[in-house]
Amino acid sequence: MALPTLEGPQVRLRPPAPADYDLLFGWYNDPEVIAPFDRFTADTYASFREGVESAPDDPASLAPRFVVELREDGRVVGLVGYYRAHPVLTLTDVWYVLGDTTVRGRGLGREAVGLLVDFLFHDQPLERVGATTDVENGPSSRLLEGLGFRKEGTIRAGLFHHARWHDVAVYGVTRSEWAERPRSV
Ligand SMILES: CC(C)(COP(=O)(O)OP(=O)(O)OC[C@H]1O[C@@H](n2cnc3c(N)ncnc32)[C@H](O)[C@@H]1OP(=O)(O)O)[C@@H](O)C(=O)NCCC(=O)NCCS
Repeated sequence: MALPTLEGPQVRLRPPAPADYDLLFGWYNDPEVIAPFDRFTADTYASFREGVESAPDDPASLAPRFVVELREDGRVVGLVGYYRAHPVLTLTDVWYVLGDTTVRGRGLGREAVGLLVDFLFHDQPLERVGATTDVENGPSSRLLEGLGFRKEGTIRAGLFHHARWHDVAVYGVTRSEWAERPRSV
């Protein structure tokens, strides 16, 4: 199933193309991009490419489903994805990374995730979209809260990275909350 292109005021989300793979794989192998809040798990270039290309047919895939492109100049600055997050419960979680650290803090991450959540509620019969984030990841929590996600709880010691266990905040927004949220972002 081919994903569409999603247009926002500042960014555009579009499916990754082979010409993007070197940049994206570089981000996956750069600890500075995600540290200190998580770690990527790409193995080889071949497995990365295979993951990206098989993602459209795999609801549980953690591979990026869209790149985030700046509308002003077409530069790729990030990537976002979503995945079925539980084998039994109907949980779909989103994730997001601005690999280009120079453009962080300008509202682009929030805009990109907003476009993604809009798309998911439009495209799929979901009643809730979720996200999890290391409790120490302030920018990620603020991004979600600014979009209207509510913190639903904390998983203790849910994520191992950088040599220790980390607590993880669980966020969610329901379809009706999303429909009724103020449209300033
Ligand atoms: C999380 C991430 C995508 C946020 O993207 P961004 O475009 O920089 O964020 P935005 O500019 O949309 O800002 C979102 C909120 O975070 C806040 N924020 C952004 N950078 C911040 C920083 N360095 N420190 C504290 N708060 C920050 C903003 O002030 C804003 O909150 P507010 O509107 O309540 O003031 C980006 O920081 C990133 O790629 N981080 C590394 C990957 C990651 O942690 N992903 C999430 C894994 S769960």
